[in-house]
Amino acid sequence: MAADTVDALNAEIAACNREGGLHIQLITEEPEAFQAEKPTYGQFKGCKNYLALVGPKGKDEQIGYYGERVVLKAQVLGVNSCWVALTYKKGKAHVAIETGEKLYMVVALGYGANQGVAHKTKALSEISDYTQGDPDWFRAGLEAALLAPTALNQQKFRFERSGDKITARAGFGFYTKTDLGIVKYHFELGANKGKEVWA
Ligand SMILES: Cc1cc2nc3c(=O)[nH]c(=O)nc-3n(C[C@H](O)[C@H](O)[C@H](O)COP(=O)(O)O)c2cc1C
Repeated sequence: MAADTVDALNAEIAACNREGGLHIQLITEEPEAFQAEKPTYGQFKGCKNYLALVGPKGKDEQIGYYGERVVLKAQVLGVNSCWVALTYKKGKAHVAIETGEKLYMVVALGYGANQGVAHKTKALSEISDYTQGDPDWFRAGLEAALLAPTALNQQKFRFERSGDKITARAGFGFYTKTDLGIVKYHFELGANKGKEVWA
């Protein structure tokens, strides 16, 4: 990654860490975490840059929310990404983890061989109480949430509206709390609302 791309990502990460009380780190030029020399292991080929999503324990949702904020910033800068909870080598990650903190997961960063394909998605009725005639901002938020990545593409979340306020809940499953943070960030962007939208 070019130096100005790294600088722009680090600025976004610093803002997220301040706001969210997290310790997210950008690791560059470190191929070990994804065994870049052995592309048969896992699906990542030549990946040597990643985000280490570190923070105090019990911050799963915030990790999702702020991690996705950095991910979308990266995409704006032309850097592709993939959230990775399992298929990397944790022991090899050169990450600073302070007392009381943990490494939740990582996000692989790089320039993709292609720009990906649209994922299979649920219908609005499966993830919300949206009905025809509801405000446009609610629909726009939900549509943005459906575009978000979730672990195993499970999309186990639900949004319900009461007037101007939205309740968002995670379903049961692996990493659904982190997924919830990711989709809440997307919802805010799509709906063009701030955090005050949450009930
Ligand atoms: C919290 C989380 C954890 C994930 N863990 C992994 C992983 O360990 N390995 C992997 O290859 N992909 C992982 N993914 C990527 C998802 O499988 C992928 O984002 C999802 O299927 C949607 O596909 P899309 O990003 O192409 O839209 C993870 C995604 C999320 C949000």
